[in-house]
Amino acid sequence: MSDTPFLRNAWYMAGWSSELDDGRLIARRMLDEPVVVFRDSKGVAQALADRCPHRFAPLSRGKVKGDVLQCGYHGLGFDGTGYCVANPYPAAAGRSIRIRRYSVMEQDRIVWVWFGVEGRADAARIPRFPRHDAKEFRFVFGHSEIRSDYQLVADNLLDLSHTTFIHPAFGGEFWVPEFRMEQQGERVIAHYKILNSPPSIFSEGFFAAHGQPIDEHATMFWDAASVMRLDIKWAFSDRPDHVVSEQPSAHVLTPMTESRTWYFWASGALKEAPISDEQHRAALVQAFESEDAPMVEACAANIGREGFWASEPVILPYDTAAVRARRILLRKIREERAPAVPAGAGVEAGSIAVEP
Ligand code: FES
Ligand SMILES: [Fe+2]
Repeated sequence: MSDTPFLRNAWYMAGWSSELDDGRLIARRMLDEPVVVFRDSKGVAQALADRCPHRFAPLSRGKVKGDVLQCGYHGLGFDGTGYCVANPYPAAAGRSIRIRRYSVMEQDRIVWVWFGVEGRADAARIPRFPRHDAKEFRFVFGHSEIRSDYQLVADNLLDLSHTTFIHPAFGGEFWVPEFRMEQQGERVIAHYKILNSPPSIFSEGFFAAHGQPIDEHATMFWDAASVMRLDIKWAFSDRPDHVVSEQPSAHVLTPMTESRTWYFWASGALKEAPISDEQHRAALVQAFESEDAPMVEACAANIGREGFWASEPVILPYDTAAVRARRILLRKIREERAPAVPAGAGVEAGSIAVEP
């Protein structure tokens, strides 16, 4: 088995709330399951298996009619409970037909879907992104598909030392940070501090530094299974305690399959920042899709079916946050796979690959 199995008892991002506006659907493979999300007549998001139980047509090819998603092939209709509540063939079984439904939650402009045990979905555990609605920021949003398992993409986001080598607009050779890793409960935090550095092309878009030396503090927060938030703050080096601009951003990964990942990102600039939304979006698309993704995909291709730990990676100092996140995730996956045992008995680890 791959060493990137899925944590089931977790909330995963299905998409941006805006993708459901105007009666549209989100149809995405998540954790190797086809999922469709739609809003019912009250505007409440509902999530179902995107697989009609008759001939297995994607329900996302059908239509939303009030509270019912009607299959576009032969017309069976399902509501948010997963029961078949509309049936053009009265002699058929009707309500005894049921498909999987998922708990779903919209918060901070994100559509979250729970893949775990029904009844254990706790919306209070969803990581928050309250700045997505903050009046002082303008956010740009995007998503892309990466041909890599999601943990390799998380490694990329937790080890930002690659900025020096593949992101010239973010500072390139001048982006040489002091690094510190911290763990708070099950949250991993990677702190990066770059002092007395020339402003990057990108940071000049967030405040007019006119080439004066600046300090940058970048803090990446990771929560299982793969939800990350990056807060960047800038100050002039001669007034290091006075933050002159910020860039809060979201980096949320949802495994599509064991070897493909949905990468959802959002990035905010202060309303008065010189950068336009178009420039902001273009800079991030360039970085994420033309600089990060090709490198991560090439790494994934080189690792191939061997698996990450079996390939015996060299671990460098900047890797500590990514490795800690992998360990927490692996432990959580083991715990939910372990059979229930009487108190005091030994626990079997299950059959997933184990790091050295
Ligand atoms: S495949 Fe959906 S009703 Fe036939
Ligand atoms: Fe990157």
